[in-house]
Amino acid sequence: MKAAVFLKWLSELVAVSYAAQIPLTSNSSLTTGIKTENLKDGAAEFKCFITPQFSALVNLTLEATKTPGLSLGIVQVVSHTNDVQTEFGTWGTMSGDGDEMMQETMFDIGSCSKAFLATAMGILMEDYAQGKNVTPLPDGLGSFAWKTKVQDLFPGDDSEWKLKDDWASQKVNIRDMLTHVSGLPRHDLSYGPSDALIDLVRKLRYLRPQFELREQ
Ligand SMILES: *[C@@H]1O[C@H](CO)[C@@H](O)[C@H](O)[C@H]1NC(C)=O
Ligand SMILES: *[C@@H]1O[C@H](CO)[C@@H](O)[C@H](O)[C@H]1NC(C)=O
Repeated sequence: MKAAVFLKWLSELVAVSYAAQIPLTSNSSLTTGIKTENLKDGAAEFKCFITPQFSALVNLTLEATKTPGLSLGIVQVVSHTNDVQTEFGTWGTMSGDGDEMMQETMFDIGSCSKAFLATAMGILMEDYAQGKNVTPLPDGLGSFAWKTKVQDLFPGDDSEWKLKDDWASQKVNIRDMLTHVSGLPRHDLSYGPSDALIDLVRKLRYLRPQFELREQ
């Protein structure tokens, strides 16, 4: 990665963690570490990314962006041998009292869940495509893919799935939802911590869209 590109990436990462992630708790004093699993002699060679130079760069970036702390995990996998190396690094502080950031410091997940969701969906689709997952799909649905319509996943007249806009309700597919082109704005006040998953789905029909499906 070129230095300028990397710096841009890092400062975005820092901006995200500063804006959206609130450290919660931690209980160990490990701050950096490298762990290698499954590695037979000479089977794979991993490069360490968290070098002293890298750490110095992170320090400078935290200072320049007035970010209190940052923690970073890097996972390297050799696909044909399944060798895994994880590296962890932490910098700065995790609380107003100046407690050090640690490997076990927990953060609110914030929008990182979006990436996990998209990845989990992709893995599930791949499992269906390769016949590893044989859980029956709803009647009439031959495959589960990005273009699968949500309505086909929740079929029937008494389906929980319904949007205020009928056209969108029928046509929205998985890709539309993950790329945020369903037409629905955030409606942040429409849900709360006590809601079950199904409550969130059932409320969708009452939420006013801001755009037509795929308009923006
Ligand atoms: C840290 O937390 C883990 C998981 O909650 C727990 O198993 C462990 O005993 C804790 N360690 C200390 C030193 O409190
Ligand atoms: C980064 O900053 C911390 C805290 O000031 C310091 O302990 C550490 O040595 C610095 N690391 C590098 C590589 O400069």
